Formats: sequence, C-alpha cells, structure tokens
Amino acid sequence: MTPKTFKIKSFGCQMNVYDGERMAELLGAQGMSVAAESEDADLVVLNTCHIREKAAEKAYSDIGRLRREDGSKPLIALAGCVAQAEGAEAKRRSQMIDIVVGPQAYHRLPEMVAEAVRGARPVDTDMPAISKFDAMPARRRANPSSFLTIQEGCDKFCTYCVVPYTRGAEISRPWNDVVTEAEALVDAGAREIVLLGQNVNAWSDGDRGLAHLIRALAKIDGLERIRYTTSHPADMTEELIAAHGEVEKLMPYLHLPVQSGSNRILNAMNRSHTAETYLAILEKMRAARPDVALSGDFIVGFPGETEEDFEATLCIVDAVRYASAYSFKYSPRPGTPAATMEDQIPREIMDDRLQRLQERINQHRLAFNRSKVGVHTKVLIERKGRLPGQMIGRSPWLQSVHVEAGAQPGDIVSVTLVAAGPNSMTGAERQKVAA
Ligand code: 5AD
Ligand code: SF4
Repeated sequence: MTPKTFKIKSFGCQMNVYDGERMAELLGAQGMSVAAESEDADLVVLNTCHIREKAAEKAYSDIGRLRREDGSKPLIALAGCVAQAEGAEAKRRSQMIDIVVGPQAYHRLPEMVAEAVRGARPVDTDMPAISKFDAMPARRRANPSSFLTIQEGCDKFCTYCVVPYTRGAEISRPWNDVVTEAEALVDAGAREIVLLGQNVNAWSDGDRGLAHLIRALAKIDGLERIRYTTSHPADMTEELIAAHGEVEKLMPYLHLPVQSGSNRILNAMNRSHTAETYLAILEKMRAARPDVALSGDFIVGFPGETEEDFEATLCIVDAVRYASAYSFKYSPRPGTPAATMEDQIPREIMDDRLQRLQERINQHRLAFNRSKVGVHTKVLIERKGRLPGQMIGRSPWLQSVHVEAGAQPGDIVSVTLVAAGPNSMTGAERQKVAA
C-alpha cells in the first residue's frame, strides 16, 4: 500500500538535520503527511550518521524497535551516511530495511518508495554532483534559525575520518542556488541562516569564496543573522576573518575544530595545521572581532597518544579559552588509515582523558558565560520554554538564553544577560530592566 504518513529521524550533524527537512518537504510534495509518532507512520526514514561506531549501532537497534506488537512494520528507509557506507550490505544486516538511500540520492526517495511498495528493496548510493538540490521542491517553510547546506564532502582525508568516503569529494553549490534558497528561507520567516558544509569555508564559486557569499547574503532584507559551520583551519582565509570585523550580520562565533594540541598527533592525523598555526588563526580572528566566541572539536585517544600529547591538548584548551567545545573518544572506522595504526589506546585511558578534557572545557564555558553577565545584547527567540511565559533563544555568541518575554519565535528581543549557568544564560528584557 502506498504510504500516507511518514516520520524522519535524523542523527548526527546539522547537515543531516537539513537533509531531513528536505526529505520531509519532498515527501510532503507527494501528498504524504507527517505522522505524530513513528509507531503510527507508514514510512520511517532513519537518516543516519556514521562518524563514530555507536551511531551506526544505534541506527540498527532503532530499526529493530520499529517492529510493532502485532508483528507488522512500517516501510523502512535507511538514509544518510550509514546507508552510504553499508550500501546493499545494510539489507543483509537487517531484513527489515526496504530502502537504502545515500545522502546524494535522496531526491529519488519518492520513486524508491514506489518500488518498495511493489516489493523491491531498492538501493541507491550513487554520488553524482549535488544534483539532488535541483530535483527538490522550493523552500516554503523555515525556522527562525534555518540551516542551508552550501557545500558537501571533504578532500582533507584526516586519517581518522570516514567523511571523505561517505560524503565524497568537496563540492560547492552554485552561487545562484544558494542565494535563491536563502531568499526563499527569509521569505518563509527565517531571521538567521546557518550555512552548512563539512568544510563550509572551502565553499567557492569561481573566484568567489565564502566571505564574498556572506557579504551578499547580508544584503537580504529581513535576514538578521548569518553563521557558518564547520570550518577547517586550512581554509580560514584572510577575507573570511576580515568579514567578521566588517559584516554586522555575521555573528561573533567560530567553530574551528583543532582535534589535538600535540603537533605529533596532528601530523599523524594528517591535519594540515600545528597548534601554533591554529592559534595564530584565532589570534587574527580575535583582532578582527574581539568578542568572538570560539568553539572546537577534540578527539582523545588517537592511536599513539601519550599522556604528554594529551596534556598538550589541555594546554591548547587553556590557551584558546573556548566558549564551548565538543570532545570525542577516538573510534576506529573501517577503511580509514588510523584504524590499522599501531598503539591503539585502551578504553580506560580514553575514558579518563575524555573526562579530564570535558572538565576543562566546562570550566572555560562557565567562565565565558559568566563574563557575559551584565551585558546588553539581542536574543533571537526560537521556541517556548518549559515555564509559563518563558521563551528560549540564542545570543550572538550562540548561548542558549532563557527569557521571560511576550515574544514569539522569530522575534529579536533586547535583553540584559543577568545570570550564567554552565549550559545557558538567563536574560531580562531591556524595557523591564529599565523599569
Ligand atoms: N572518532 C572520534 N571522533 C571523530 N570525529 C570524526 N571522526 C572521528 C572518529 N573516527 C570527530 C571530529 C570531528 C567531529 C565531527 O567528529 O572531532 O571534528
Ligand atoms: Fe555523521 Fe559526518 Fe555523515 Fe554528518 S557527515 S551525518 S557527522 S558521518
């Protein structure tokens, strides 16, 4: 039977969230509607992440749980990076999977659903250029803060990472497509656009780079805020850094993964920067935009990491004073060079290092949040909070801010930040502060 309702569950990065939204629009355009619960859905799409081992295992166990009490099950599509990596193998690992669709092929989802209804188990993990966007319906819905993928894939080949294999080579969406989609999102109510790419700052169209694009998007009326993520230190150009000092709508926030503070490990990771060149970039960034909030990614327990290497990572955390950061235990990914390197680190050591690193990061995050107490700023309201009258939004530095305001999602309210917690700030609306 042709499915009437669907549910999409996205895991992993923001690019998957974006892809999930696009798939929902695509299925919506076919006349299907979103089911309230995945148990009731005729079609469930699991939009998976393959970056670390547990993510893939989680997807398979989620699939198992889709069997209903009466033994029936919805149509199941495995999408995203696990689908790309496993291909037809996924159908063998789980008999429950009806469709396997990779991240560059999901524009074909409606026809694959039709094939599955006829009893086939289609697989499409082709990786053409980003033609999927041409096949997608125009954007009609937007969140106050909306994602917009402008670049996919990665040519950097860090030795631990599957992305170059799952998402393919670096490719940029053309200038006009990006601008058109940004305008459509703003027309649909977006006040902030977060430009996404695995290597977003490698985006280019001819001789125009990301800084050029940001300056153009900043001219769109009604668009108030621009962010971009995730960047690679190698593509952090002078133009992009300069834009942070000049484009008011570009928010004072940079997520720039470093992965380790040890040059020996950075070299083994095939990162093209050292701790020193990384810090030099941030210094320029702070010169251009003194209040910039910095964020990063870290891996602990990369093969061969000694206590001394790990301490170098703690040192770089102290040197940068991150406003936030993500840290992960190294997870060997099949097919990547690091997976077969000697001297894999035992789990207990990784656990210990991760805990120490996260403690250090948390200290800096709290210190950053405390440094903003008393500051007058603006919050883009995104949603209702749990308490009556409470709204939740984001400060320019991407802090989550709780504020009692008679505001709606999409409003930008002037606040004074009055209290800091480890994970959020409390804001007081400015007029009320004055009263
Ligand atoms: N193991 C652990 N963390 C990883 N990341 C990427 N690959 C791995 C891996 N094999 C982390 C990196 C990257 C973030 C998205 O995920 O820190 O920046
Ligand atoms: Fe996960 Fe990376 Fe794929 Fe994003 S691109 S879904 S983080 S594996």
